[in-house]
Amino acid sequence: MGAAKRIRTNPRELAANVVAELKLGDIAESIEIAGPGFLNIRLKPSFLSEQLTESPLLENTKNPKRVVVDYSSPNLAKEMHVGHLRSTVIGDAVARTLELVGHTVIRQNHIGDWGTAFGRLLAYLDDVGDEATQNAELRDIEALYVEASQKFESDAAFADRSRAMVLALQAHEPHAITKWQNFMVLAQEHMSDIYSRLDISLQPQDTRGESTYNADIGPMIKDLQKQDDVLVESDGALCIFMPQFKNKDGEVQPMIVQKSDGGYLYHTTDLAALCYRQEVLLADRVLYFTDARQILHFEMLFAASRLANIANPSVMLEHHPFGKILGTDGKPFKSRSGDNILLRDLIDEAIERATSLIVEKNPDLADAQRDHIARTVAIGAVKYADLSKNRLHDYTFDWDEMLAFDGNTAPYLQYAYARISGIFEKGDIDIAQCNAPTRLDSEVERQLAVHLLRFQEVIEQVVADAKPHYLCSYLYDLTVRFMRFYEQCPILSEEASIRDGRLTLCRRTAETLETGLGALGIQVLDRM
Ligand code: ARG
Repeated sequence: MGAAKRIRTNPRELAANVVAELKLGDIAESIEIAGPGFLNIRLKPSFLSEQLTESPLLENTKNPKRVVVDYSSPNLAKEMHVGHLRSTVIGDAVARTLELVGHTVIRQNHIGDWGTAFGRLLAYLDDVGDEATQNAELRDIEALYVEASQKFESDAAFADRSRAMVLALQAHEPHAITKWQNFMVLAQEHMSDIYSRLDISLQPQDTRGESTYNADIGPMIKDLQKQDDVLVESDGALCIFMPQFKNKDGEVQPMIVQKSDGGYLYHTTDLAALCYRQEVLLADRVLYFTDARQILHFEMLFAASRLANIANPSVMLEHHPFGKILGTDGKPFKSRSGDNILLRDLIDEAIERATSLIVEKNPDLADAQRDHIARTVAIGAVKYADLSKNRLHDYTFDWDEMLAFDGNTAPYLQYAYARISGIFEKGDIDIAQCNAPTRLDSEVERQLAVHLLRFQEVIEQVVADAKPHYLCSYLYDLTVRFMRFYEQCPILSEEASIRDGRLTLCRRTAETLETGLGALGIQVLDRM
């Protein structure tokens, strides 16, 4: 219809001309012109069957890229809490999806491991003595951090010592650095523990925190100073002025690269990180996952890095923001006492709730199997609830909804997979051997087959837009179509020619669910 408009002709007439030229004899059983100028192409069952048995589930992209994915990235003076959940879950799903079609993914955990918070914390650790941190966990340290912050407010001498500690860190004084390193060991252990419980693919070697770029910043600023008109001194600070960024009074809002006291800011470290990602990691694309409050930060960062020739024009820089997590009362999701909910507690609660559901449905499971199922359902539910919504919106954290066994939830999809496994188990059939042509006699079979063949298309949409909810909607639709087929079409009781073809549909559905959920960081179960 767009083409018809451009060449000023009647769309139905143009459609008729297109149909006359189409050579789809091998693929289509009918082509009809409908409505104001739609073309409805009905695929031949033989073509669909051939695709299902011969085409791979996914093909690698013809245009593989090196993609840096910056996600999770918590500030680590604190334990990980619910505020870190979305970046961690969404970033991980996008990273896995990119890999699935052959992109090279370089994960970067840009943790906050430097700056004033650490000055306070380390100065306080000096006061309480090293015993306090022996055998400690990050949660113990967080309690110390709260005390440190109080002391910072009330005790001027301590505040001075904290500031001195920041300088000592920056000057790499051994005493300060050792303390800091000891703390970082705890922090990394804590992160690794959370990631492994949540089944997040970030590894310790992906951690490259803000501190890593300290030594790069001085030379970077020198380089910027060599270019005319990039860095401008204003009240003793070095700034980049970009006319498109104005405050509400219409004045240009500078991006401060170095403060008048010589200190650097969040922006500055991000500029240095970007240099590294381009020059050392050789990124073609850099993706950042943070909440929507950082939109302006990234707009300025990207604009400045283009202006200052830090990013060459071909590298794609993308900030992928997301909304807030709300409680069922519509307010930001907090604990009853108003604190941030810790991820450790959130994971425990998810597993507890999933365990009672599983026990209710299936009281006879052995302990180990029950625990495995409960954990897989729990983590799947928490992730899927987040991933299935358009990330740009706020979403409501609702235990009952995410753990429901029907609707657009992880347990529903995992359950469909378990059912399919059940069919193969019952028939004592090796799933890998099921690749017989399928007749697709009924409409429900056709609908399932056509949908199965759209998997590649949806994966590519996720790769392009970094929106995992496309994949969730696809998998949910797939499951609904499978369930309709399963209810209407007998399988094991049919004669071989029909049964084997239907088993092909089952196998392909199971593979698509397993691979698709895997891309989201969610595991399937043979039994639930
Ligand atoms: N640590 C930051 C925070 O907690 C997120 C870092 C995101 N990545 C980046 N390169 N700025 O808000």
